[in-house]
Amino acid sequence: MHIGHIPLANRLFVAPMAGVTDRPFRQLCKRLGAGYAVSEMVTSRKDLWASLKTSRRANHEGEPGPIAVQIAGTDAAMMAEAAAYNVDRGAQIIDINMGCPAKKVCNKWAGSALMQNEALAVQIAAAVVAACAPHGVPVTLKMRTGWCAAHRNAVQLARRFEEVGVQMLTVHGRTREQGYKGEAEYDTIAAVKAAVRVPVVANGDITSPEKARAVLAATGADAIMIGRAAQGRPWIFREIGHYLATGEHLAPPLVAEVRRLLLEHLQDHYGLYGEASGVRSARKHIAWYVRDLPGGEAFRQQINTIEDCAAQWRAVAGFFDALGVQMDRLPPPHDDADPQSRECKHEQEQQH
Ligand SMILES: Cc1cc2nc3c(=O)[nH]c(=O)nc-3n(C[C@H](O)[C@H](O)[C@H](O)COP(=O)(O)O)c2cc1C
Repeated sequence: MHIGHIPLANRLFVAPMAGVTDRPFRQLCKRLGAGYAVSEMVTSRKDLWASLKTSRRANHEGEPGPIAVQIAGTDAAMMAEAAAYNVDRGAQIIDINMGCPAKKVCNKWAGSALMQNEALAVQIAAAVVAACAPHGVPVTLKMRTGWCAAHRNAVQLARRFEEVGVQMLTVHGRTREQGYKGEAEYDTIAAVKAAVRVPVVANGDITSPEKARAVLAATGADAIMIGRAAQGRPWIFREIGHYLATGEHLAPPLVAEVRRLLLEHLQDHYGLYGEASGVRSARKHIAWYVRDLPGGEAFRQQINTIEDCAAQWRAVAGFFDALGVQMDRLPPPHDDADPQSRECKHEQEQQH
């Protein structure tokens, strides 16, 4: 699988999730079998580029390539400028966000709201492609199936995006109106795949190896993208990869391995965010790792009272030491067909 001229390790992608898919998390997913990960969205608002939040999002130190940066905005010239800015800072692929339900830029709705204004959506895609082409940087785009059930225009838009040079399309199988409610549908994704020649990526509610195989079969997509199901379970990529290759399930990971992975994740997280911010932003990750484990809920509450990184790290080590006495491996995952039960701080995360 390629994006433009860039080869990828496999067809299992990490979905961009603002506030979640920072560099430490992307690196971890890649180590555990993801072939590609898109960074958290960067705004096209120039006045915010120097902010700590945006510069953290643009931090790709030590990250195995390709480096893909997602941009969001409503103005074609500003989006082209944002693309060029990120290419200068190492982006090898630029992804345009037309999938996010909540993004407001300059008091206008960006993200999936753009699907309602096809002319502007295509103008933005063309401007970003023109800005990236001289650098040999492919442009990709992530969208939903449409604005609402009555306006599922992903197929129409996909054709037009392909015409203006977009080189890969990801489709989340929900309309903008749905937000994260209801179930993702895959028929529209299959129709998009049938309508264009560029690679198409299927996204939405993929929570297990079986679901991954079913979505690939139902859509004919070139790749799948996983968001919420990877929260606290970054090894899901390895599990899906193994199942697709062999038809067999890997055993759940050893408690000792999860302990090591999470403690390394935390070190990396503290390194990026620093002490004060790191201890708080790590809490959601810890909660996701332990949510289905015995004692997980009580531990989550305990973690929320700890205010320094060293104590948080020791508490996590202690939790997994105690768990390791009870069991060698994690319990098999619940069939979590409802990823909405996962914390979705999406709207807050979008506000810069
Ligand atoms: C916390 C959170 C933040 C998200 N941030 C973004 C984002 O910045 N850009 C984007 O295109 N989609 C964003 N999404 C949407 C995901 O990329 C994905 O399309 C959606 O979660 C459906 O996939 P899933 O069912 O595998 O989670 C976000 C989703 C969540 C839960």
